[in-house]
Amino acid sequence: MHSPSPRPLAAHRPAAPLAGTLRVPGDKSISHRALMFGALAVGQTRITGLLEGEDVLRTAAAMRALGAEVTQDGPGSGTWRVAGRGLGGLVEPADVLDMGNSGTAARLLCGILASHPIFAVMTGDASLRRRPMRRVTDPLAACGARFASREGGRLPLAIEGARDPLPLEYRVPVPSAQVKSALLLCGLNAPGLTRIEEPEATRDHSENMLRHFGAEVGVEEQGRTRIITLRGQPELRAADVAVPGDPSSAAFPLVAALLVPGSAIRIEGLGLNPLRIGLFDCLREMGADITIENTRIQGGEPVGDVVARHAPLRAIEVPWERAPSMIDEYPVLAVAAACATGTTRMLGLKELRVKESDRLSATAAMLTANGAKVEISGDDLIVYGTGRPPAGGGRVETHMDHRLAMSALVMGLAADAPVTVDDASFIDTSFPGFVALMNGLADNGGVEPLRAP
Ligand code: S3P
Repeated sequence: MHSPSPRPLAAHRPAAPLAGTLRVPGDKSISHRALMFGALAVGQTRITGLLEGEDVLRTAAAMRALGAEVTQDGPGSGTWRVAGRGLGGLVEPADVLDMGNSGTAARLLCGILASHPIFAVMTGDASLRRRPMRRVTDPLAACGARFASREGGRLPLAIEGARDPLPLEYRVPVPSAQVKSALLLCGLNAPGLTRIEEPEATRDHSENMLRHFGAEVGVEEQGRTRIITLRGQPELRAADVAVPGDPSSAAFPLVAALLVPGSAIRIEGLGLNPLRIGLFDCLREMGADITIENTRIQGGEPVGDVVARHAPLRAIEVPWERAPSMIDEYPVLAVAAACATGTTRMLGLKELRVKESDRLSATAAMLTANGAKVEISGDDLIVYGTGRPPAGGGRVETHMDHRLAMSALVMGLAADAPVTVDDASFIDTSFPGFVALMNGLADNGGVEPLRAP
């Protein structure tokens, strides 16, 4: 798993435009869920296109520790099989569950464990051990589960799942698909109706996949609020899952192509769930040349090909309501905004403070270190674009955050001087092969634009 030694990396502006047709690794959110639902269903689930990044491998290991048989068809194949235990059939893990860097894995697993009558202890890396868990453990406790944690509800965390779990009724106070999904997963093994209200729609992969596995899920919209209901203890039947490409990973080559003059790339087989593609809306409003082709439905999720070409960008205001649909994309949008003409305001970014790092401060620091002018005002990020890439030449602290590392490297492909990151090793949590893929897009006379400093 993760290597303890930091891996610095520098990004240089390529001599030629970026060009090519590519696929990005499987969607991280869908990959976690496919393994978890597969483990809870009866029968064998076959998953193709699974993201074989460290975060998802942690989920695979945890589901194995809970008694599911999880096997990979061949190294790097992306094809996995899960022989499920059936709802309520998980066994007590013999050791601590280590969720590495993954908040999604940790929080969703809390939901599963809360309604299983077993004892488990969960931990994670230094980044995950700093992240708030009360947002899931407080509402989950109402089902009868007991949690003991470090101060502030942080990992390591001990869970004693409920013997006779009660269904939950909860209004999620922050827009969080992780919290919503944890409660739905808990409700799976409780009798009766679990009812969740979310003030803003967040990614609905759990709802889609629950239906795909045969559960009864209702969604009602009341203005901006969504009410999701789940009938507990369904017959969860194993179902094959074809995982689409992750739009959050595609954001990096996509923005790079928009910023490097003359570039044109095509990304195939990308997940295009409307609750995930706020970044595309922003970039189009900024004047980006992005077209979507060949759209289709794959396993209940919209999928298509995306073509992006370099174009000059202009500043926009990003409304706070858009945040849940692009929550992981702000660092790379900030890079695009720094290259655009005018002042971009990104509103309502409070949730960015509790990601793999405090992404709001870290994004501002990344840009400042490379000569861009930015400001944090309350929960808003303001980027003063100059119409041309920042000077670069800075060293970026990535704080164990894969998306900061990739955003900084994208900036380095456009900046005047190379941009260096202190540690690129965390990129493997979500985007194994990122460096080779980006280098493959640039015909740079045999010299790789992303290389050790
Ligand atoms: C995720 C939800 C988001 C996102 C994370 C994956 C998920 O977190 O940042 O990378 O798979 O449900 P929140 O829902 O907590 O904002």
